[in-house]
Amino acid sequence: MDSVHRYYEDIASKYDQDRFQNSYGRYIDALERPILSSLLSSSGPKENLEIACGTGRFLNFAHTGVDVSKNMLKIAREKYPEAHLVNASFDAIPLEEQSFSNIYAFHLVMHLNDSKVEKLSKEAMRLLKDDGSLIIDVPSHFRRRFKSKRNDWHGSYAPPLRIFEQLGWTITKVHPVMFVPIHRIPNRFRGGFLSVEKVLSTLIPTFCASYMILEMRKTQ
Ligand SMILES: C[S@@+](CC[C@H](N)C(=O)[O-])C[C@H]1O[C@@H](n2cnc3c(N)ncnc32)[C@H](O)[C@@H]1O
Repeated sequence: MDSVHRYYEDIASKYDQDRFQNSYGRYIDALERPILSSLLSSSGPKENLEIACGTGRFLNFAHTGVDVSKNMLKIAREKYPEAHLVNASFDAIPLEEQSFSNIYAFHLVMHLNDSKVEKLSKEAMRLLKDDGSLIIDVPSHFRRRFKSKRNDWHGSYAPPLRIFEQLGWTITKVHPVMFVPIHRIPNRFRGGFLSVEKVLSTLIPTFCASYMILEMRKTQ
């Protein structure tokens, strides 16, 4: 078991409460959810696969979810008893090739490195139909250049977007997420900044956002 896997096994029972039942988590969720919803609006849950589905925050969009952590999946199962939840790593998913129109993975890439991204990419290519989409979030390479390295934390990987093109993807859309340094804003004011984000996204270049949601297709 690697350190990321161990970490999520240990925090699973507190994950929802600690990450998403506070003003910071609600803010992130309120930014990400409408983007994902718009990208998946024309497909039904059976056409979609979520990789690293965790406790099921976004399993309303997919019938099938994969996660390496048994404890995270246990919570997802309580929320979505009808879903097909598979305990597996992203690089060896025991499902048929070309099974899905859309595959999405949120807050996973930050834990990876170049060689793991390559494995994720290969598995997504295998499982996606030819005209299918891969949707993932990627921390801003540009913004991370100005941050000190946090070697104590295994979530600081921020690859340049060209890595995905080199792996055979065409990026069809880049959605910026979070321009406001919301962790510096007092809790009670945070909700009010959601509308500011919309305005900022029209004024500030996408690569200045904290992270981006990429919509990609296999390069023909
Ligand atoms: C930050 S959580 C995100 C969960 C969910 N996507 C969300 O946004 O709430 C990261 C998830 O990635 C999963 N994960 C880590 N390594 C993985 C791997 N090798 N294969 C599949 N899932 C993995 C963890 O178990 C955890 O559930």
